[in-house]
Amino acid sequence: MIAEAVTRHLESLAARRPAVLEEMEVAAKERDFPIIGPAAGQLCYLLARLTGARRVFEMGSGFGYSTAWFARAVRENGGGEVHHVVWEEGLTSEARTWLAKLGLDDLVRYHTREAVSALSEQPGGFDLVFVDIDKDAYPQAIRLAGEKLRAGGLLIVDNALWSGRIFDEADRSPATEGVREATRLLGEAPWISTLAPIRDGVFIAMRA
Ligand SMILES: C[S@@+](CC[C@H](N)C(=O)[O-])C[C@H]1O[C@@H](n2cnc3c(N)ncnc32)[C@H](O)[C@@H]1O
Repeated sequence: MIAEAVTRHLESLAARRPAVLEEMEVAAKERDFPIIGPAAGQLCYLLARLTGARRVFEMGSGFGYSTAWFARAVRENGGGEVHHVVWEEGLTSEARTWLAKLGLDDLVRYHTREAVSALSEQPGGFDLVFVDIDKDAYPQAIRLAGEKLRAGGLLIVDNALWSGRIFDEADRSPATEGVREATRLLGEAPWISTLAPIRDGVFIAMRA
């Protein structure tokens, strides 16, 4: 949905990222694995730094690329924990290798399981929750994030534009309806939110 030139320009603003992150981007491209990419990664890193996040819960972590951006911010914020959650065992072990290579492994707690149920078992008070799971589960994930974030905590949700499918009225698929319902939920209390049109769209919401 976003002009290619704008995306390339935004990616160039994340130029000072560690070389290992660039290696992870190459690895994702080689197997066509969907990662948030450098422009949205830089946004996540900036927001996590700005808010001084020390306890972060990720829902849908893949092989650890988005985790790396959050863990980097948490380290610079003085240390804490970043929960990596994905239901594929292979991705958890790959993430362990990449995050160790980045020297961030000690901050990460790994969960190989369904993400909504994993968060439901955690004590609340998170500073930041990130959502990038199957889109039909977005409403459930957002409702639970509202319970598990501290007041003033930050929610970041990827794929807010869903490649434009949200604008196609004929598309009534569970995934597209999930993103539409997420949009509606984030427009209501307790959220103060906006959508940053970076890559596939990123919701940024504060639990007021
Ligand atoms: C889009 S990828 C995550 C990419 C990652 N956030 C990044 O940018 O590096 C989503 C991953 O979460 C997994 N997933 C989807 N829904 C899930 C759920 N409800 N619980 C756990 N994992 C889930 C998918 O199988 C996939 O491995």
